[in-house]
This record gives sequence, C-alpha cells and structure tokens, in this order.
Amino acid sequence: MNTQNILYVKSSIFGDNGVSSGIAKKLVAALAQKKDSAIVERNVSAGDIPHFSMQTIEAIGAGNATLADTLIAEVQQADVIVIAAPMYNFAIPSQLKAWFDHIARAGVTFKYTEAGAVGLLTNKKVYIATARGGLHQDKGTNLDTVYLKTMLGFLGITDVEFIYAEGVNLGEEVRVKSIAAAEQQVQAVA
Ligand SMILES: Cc1cc2nc3c(=O)[nH]c(=O)nc-3n(C[C@H](O)[C@H](O)[C@H](O)COP(=O)(O)O)c2cc1C
Repeated sequence: MNTQNILYVKSSIFGDNGVSSGIAKKLVAALAQKKDSAIVERNVSAGDIPHFSMQTIEAIGAGNATLADTLIAEVQQADVIVIAAPMYNFAIPSQLKAWFDHIARAGVTFKYTEAGAVGLLTNKKVYIATARGGLHQDKGTNLDTVYLKTMLGFLGITDVEFIYAEGVNLGEEVRVKSIAAAEQQVQAVA
C-alpha cells in the first residue's frame, strides 16, 4: 500500500493547547486512520525559525545548508499539508509568516516566466485549521484567509480547504459550539 506523507505545521503560541492545534491534530489523526501515513510535525512557534534575513540569503547564495532547505524539503515531500493557523492581530502568527518566507524560493518552489510567476509545489492538498476570537468570515477582516490562499496559490497549491473555529472568545456557549462544529467538519473532510 502506498503511504501518504502528511506535514503538520502548527503555529499557535499555546502549542498543543491552542484551539487551532487541537482541531488540526484531530484532522491529522483522522487522515492517518483513513490511509497509511508518514507524519512530519513542524512547530513553527518553537522559536527555531528566525525572521528571513540577509544572512539567510547569503547562506543560500553561498550554497550552504540552511534551515530553509530543510523546511522546503519537508513541504516538497508532503502529499497533504495540515496547517494550524490561528488569527493573531488580524493575520497569521508572525512565526508562520517566517515559515512561508523560508519556503518561498525562486527556481525551487516557484519560478518566474514571461507569463508571470508559476508555483512549483503541485499535487498537494492543504487543510487549514484556523481559530479566531471573533467573527471574520465574509468580512473585510478575513485577511488571514486571503493571505493564505494567495500565498499557497503563488506556490502552486490551489487545493486548499479551511476549517474555522470562530468566535472562540465570544463566551463559553459560542466557543463550545464553534469548536464542536469545526470538529464535525474534520470528520466530514477526512
Ligand atoms: C496575540 C493574540 C492576538 C489575537 N488577535 C486576534 C484578532 O485579531 N482577531 C480575533 O478574532 N482574535 C484574535 N485573537 C484570539 C485568537 O484568535 C483566539 O484566542 C484563538 O483561539 C487563537 O488560536 P490558538 O488557540 O490556536 O492559538 C488573538 C489572540 C492572541 C493571543
């Protein structure tokens, strides 16, 4: 039986206690139950991914092995990517943004052509588990969703499915209902 490679990227500053991580973890487990899977976990909020910098560009230019190479290899090898992406200050966590900065590399994960940029990360399915204190879908503040779709599309990934737990800071009743709905969606998509 062929094994699917799942890359699980978590970015909550609360680690496994984050709402987004809780939902994403259940999704990874459900996907792995359905099909034989090799799972790689990347916690971008663990503090080992620095801001993308001139030093990184110089190291890449000099042909030195970098953390960016490792992160790119993890993405290239994945058939399915599950990203736990909470909303912080109307955006994704800056640690997750740093991860995207490291994996976007011209000639490797995208290329420029006369017709424009072309993404090179094809044939991948991405699930995003997001958690938000308030309600943002269908509003001008849906900025994290717009960014994630745009960035993944730029890299060639267009099969992207979102699972939302919204309003988790709007009181216990809304929080419980919202997380339960997201968990139901996990079972439905897996
Ligand atoms: C630093 C920080 C910034 C936040 N900013 C927002 C925000 O802009 N909009 C919102 O709806 N909720 C915001 N929240 C609430 C989170 O989205 C909510 O707590 C969610 O559960 C975070 O996901 P996590 O538990 O997986 O970390 C913020 C929370 C934190 C800790």
